[in-house]
Amino acid sequence: MNGPLVIAIDGPSAAGKGTLARRLAAHFGLPHLDTGLLYRAVGLKSLRSGRPPVEIAASLEASDLSDPELRTDSAGQQGSKVAVMLEVRDKLLNFQKKFASQSSGAVLDGRDIGTVICPDAPVKFFVTASPEARAERRYQELREQGVDTIKPRVLAEMAERDRRDSERAAAPLKAAPDAFLLDTSDMDADAAFAAALAFITRKGFRSSGP
Ligand code: CDP
Repeated sequence: MNGPLVIAIDGPSAAGKGTLARRLAAHFGLPHLDTGLLYRAVGLKSLRSGRPPVEIAASLEASDLSDPELRTDSAGQQGSKVAVMLEVRDKLLNFQKKFASQSSGAVLDGRDIGTVICPDAPVKFFVTASPEARAERRYQELREQGVDTIKPRVLAEMAERDRRDSERAAAPLKAAPDAFLLDTSDMDADAAFAAALAFITRKGFRSSGP
């Protein structure tokens, strides 16, 4: 028999991980952790206070994760800068592992969930899309937030973050060998959800809901 349903979702920014994670969590009634928020919160709080990121990571509080500014692109860049620090990652490790080991099961999304945080998760996805498709989505998101920007700039900033996330020594962005690869370049959110659900069903998990 299957143990708890733990769903690990990794991939680069604006590939659709967050949307997929939220929908799967709602469908299966599982708690969801957007682990990127942890790194964003450490980066932002450190920038504001001038305190070292490792010190912030060691004393992060739940209220730090609800700041609306965490959603901005500059918080994403700050997050990616502190995410290269092994000491910062170490401080955030236990919280994430504990979240993943709840008896209910859980959904976590990030960059190293299937490789480092939950290497034994029964369901892993690596969600990706072409840089152009991701930049287009991020551009539309930013426009909706009222941010004045241009597409080449969004593409360049995304490429910079992708490079930092993939080339760092500590837990770089990469697909776990047993991850299901989901390329969402030509998929909308419904299609990505349907493909993910089909994979989870093939693994023998069913929604317990009505
Ligand atoms: O939403 P988006 O994919 O743009 O970014 P995010 O998931 O909020 O992550 C922000 C930054 O945190 C990333 O660029 C990574 O450098 C870092 N991160 C990480 O190193 N490990 C994770 N598990 C999650 C995020």
